[in-house]
Amino acid sequence: MYAMNRWYVAAFAWELQDKPVARTLLNRPVVLFRTRNGQVAALEDRCCHRSLPLSCGTVEQAGIRCGYHGLLYEPGGQCIEIPGQKVIPAKARVVSYRVVERNQIIWIWMSEEAGSGPGFKAGAEPDSESDSEPPEISAHDDPRYKYGGGVFHYDAPYQLIHDNLLDLSHLGYVHARTIGGNPKLHMAAPTKVESAGEQVRVVRWLKDSEPPATYAAAWPFKGRIDRWQEIDFQVSYLAIWTGAVDVDSESLDDPGRGGFHMRGFHGITPETETTTHYFWTLASNAHPDRPDVSEMVCRQTEMTFEEDRLIIEAQHRNICRFGSQHGLDIHVDAGPNRARRIIERLTSREPG
Ligand code: FES
Ligand SMILES: [Fe+2]
Repeated sequence: MYAMNRWYVAAFAWELQDKPVARTLLNRPVVLFRTRNGQVAALEDRCCHRSLPLSCGTVEQAGIRCGYHGLLYEPGGQCIEIPGQKVIPAKARVVSYRVVERNQIIWIWMSEEAGSGPGFKAGAEPDSESDSEPPEISAHDDPRYKYGGGVFHYDAPYQLIHDNLLDLSHLGYVHARTIGGNPKLHMAAPTKVESAGEQVRVVRWLKDSEPPATYAAAWPFKGRIDRWQEIDFQVSYLAIWTGAVDVDSESLDDPGRGGFHMRGFHGITPETETTTHYFWTLASNAHPDRPDVSEMVCRQTEMTFEEDRLIIEAQHRNICRFGSQHGLDIHVDAGPNRARRIIERLTSREPG
């Protein structure tokens, strides 16, 4: 069960070079490719002739050519060439998905109707004007930041990743070597949780604290710091803005505050009900005295996400072993539980 009729991350722009990429998204096998003209496309990953995955084929100027008998498909899914045959039947086509490349992210519109048969152009008409474009992830194109990122595959359902990202109290225990620090401080941090519509916002402040290792390496803080974590959850992605200023130097309410910033993007796209694609980027600013730290920050972030993956996959294995009963709730679960209620509401209304 998935929340449908919305934009999900299908890939990063840099993944689509000269070869097709096969990816199952919300249980649907999709081939993603960039034609030699630069156009990005997403088709059902199955040739309409004898069902070879189109991802076994090759990318050409005009589209993708099947690797078995050479049928050529344009980005809209229509077959435009059958080698050795003049007539191309109208039904020689495959499902195409609406895709948009924005801020180096390839977004795919996943609607309920996709899969209703060959020739259906999935999500050609998003429901409203606000759906017509995918969200803007401005940190990717903001000259104040440098960013890097990657794709993790999780053997765990997407909601366990939502839980993890909406509850950063785990930093003290899981990420002690990088962005963590004192576990007791993390567990006791004042936390504000708000939700409206399909969004949840969690804000946590860790005032007058020791800079954790990554922060100390990235920014020349004078001593102790005031630290913030602002988590914005949407159904298919989260934006997490974290950072710190020297203690008592600036208000953590000021949207233009200085100091060290880490802006995380987390595209959480279900692969199946029990596996997930996790597309992440981390953008950070560099102090003039330490101009080259962004790569180090990104590497350490990748290490922290690997730590999360180990925890979440172990958690999933154990949930399978012991059954899916929900454990008890504690104070840190307010944000994750609101997101779960949103997903429950959407998936009970929208068949996935
Ligand atoms: S299976 Fe694709 S051309 Fe025959
Ligand atoms: Fe984490």
